[in-house]
Amino acid sequence: MLNDIQEVLYSEEELQAKVAELGAQLSVEYADKNPLVICVLKGAFIFMSDLVQNITVPLELDFMAVSSYGSSTKSSGVVKILKDLDVPVEGRHVIIVEDIIDSGLTLSYLIDVLERRNALSIAVVALFDKPKRRTVDLEPDYKGFTIPDEFVVGYGLDYAEKYRNLPFVGILKPEIYSH
Ligand code: PRP
Ligand code: MN
Ligand code: MG
Repeated sequence: MLNDIQEVLYSEEELQAKVAELGAQLSVEYADKNPLVICVLKGAFIFMSDLVQNITVPLELDFMAVSSYGSSTKSSGVVKILKDLDVPVEGRHVIIVEDIIDSGLTLSYLIDVLERRNALSIAVVALFDKPKRRTVDLEPDYKGFTIPDEFVVGYGLDYAEKYRNLPFVGILKPEIYSH
């Protein structure tokens, strides 16, 4: 598995430091709001887990599984809900936790769904942002790192469902996905 990584982009320590920073920020802004923190499965599961441990105010969690089709390195633009939320979002301050924003299609779809369900506020926290690939107008409210247009894996991010369990984020060797 480690053989497939060309270069480590962010070490475990760098990721933890950034997640702590984001958690501290959210702790201030969501004090007394009892936010509903939504993890976008599967990619955001590790980020979500580390992030909420760095938020020091009361909150609730829920999970939503959304996927663009297939295991290709490109988003297809077709978003489907594989698992919906367990609780209503009406009247709630919602924080959507995403691992990465690429085209922005997954998030714009999700935001649209939550707006129609009358969330009181919706904020997006994304660990990684690839603005070069954006096809819709969307900016995260809280962002970890802006990254170049390279195929990154680890810390929840996959290629064909692999590499999610790496504790760091690395660039995948092109030969892994080019054949
Ligand atoms: C990845 C990633 C984001 C989305 C970003 O999820 O985790 O959710 O794509 O791409 P976009 O901005 O172009 O929509 P994926 O669909 O691969 O599902 P996964 O989280 O289960 O890996
Ligand atoms: Mn995802
Ligand atoms: Mg994926």
